[in-house]
Amino acid sequence: MKVIVAENYEDGAKKAADVIEALVRSNPACTLGLATGSSPVGMYKELARRCKEEGLDFSKVHTVNLDEYVGLEPTHPQSYRYFMDDNLFNHINIDKANTYVAKGTGDVEANIREFNKILDQTDIDLQVLGVGPDGHLGFNEPGAVLYEKAHQETLEDSTIDANTRFFESRDEVPRFAVTMGMGSIMKAKTLLMIINGNKQEAARKLLMEDRIDPMCPATFLRLHRDAVVVIEKELAEEIGYKA
Ligand code: GLP
Repeated sequence: MKVIVAENYEDGAKKAADVIEALVRSNPACTLGLATGSSPVGMYKELARRCKEEGLDFSKVHTVNLDEYVGLEPTHPQSYRYFMDDNLFNHINIDKANTYVAKGTGDVEANIREFNKILDQTDIDLQVLGVGPDGHLGFNEPGAVLYEKAHQETLEDSTIDANTRFFESRDEVPRFAVTMGMGSIMKAKTLLMIINGNKQEAARKLLMEDRIDPMCPATFLRLHRDAVVVIEKELAEEIGYKA
């Protein structure tokens, strides 16, 4: 694992954007696996700036997203399709036909089949990851058993709590989500995790312990050949990580 300690959130966003920029410049028709959440927002903003001001070209890039809430229409402001359009796709020269976010409404089983079909046909060059406070990746929640393929997850209480800030009330937070499985994530050629904020426990397990723990899916990064972790200095110091 390569660990990049960033000065602060903005610096982390730039350093993560550097990794994506290098890939897009060397392979303009690459496929990016993307993530939602507040962790990658700064990086998306920086990529949009580089697209506009520095000609970083996304016209041939394809994307596939990690997950989507079950029950939210793509037009719902908290759906992950809306998030991606709003935070990235509307601000770069990507062809939206080349972007895929799993469907959250309609027949869940059919949506999962479609998601898996897309994943089977796609080689992800780089997968962006945030991490949940409980160590979840995408929506792969901690558990004795993790799943390889895309599937439906029941969200943990701590995940519902963490995501309540985006909704009017806790009751409005969906209880289920569809997510790439751990296998789909691990198959990406490169993993790029951005970790900041109140993720002490997950960060400690990932960077300070030598265990692969299904109760903290983020620890699976330790098994990947090319995983890059961008962590804020403050958080690195809190957990006692030294570069
Ligand atoms: C959601 C997403 C995850 C994301 C997590 C952390 O649960 N499904 O993919 O990593 O939020 O979000 P944040 O970056 O806002 O802390």
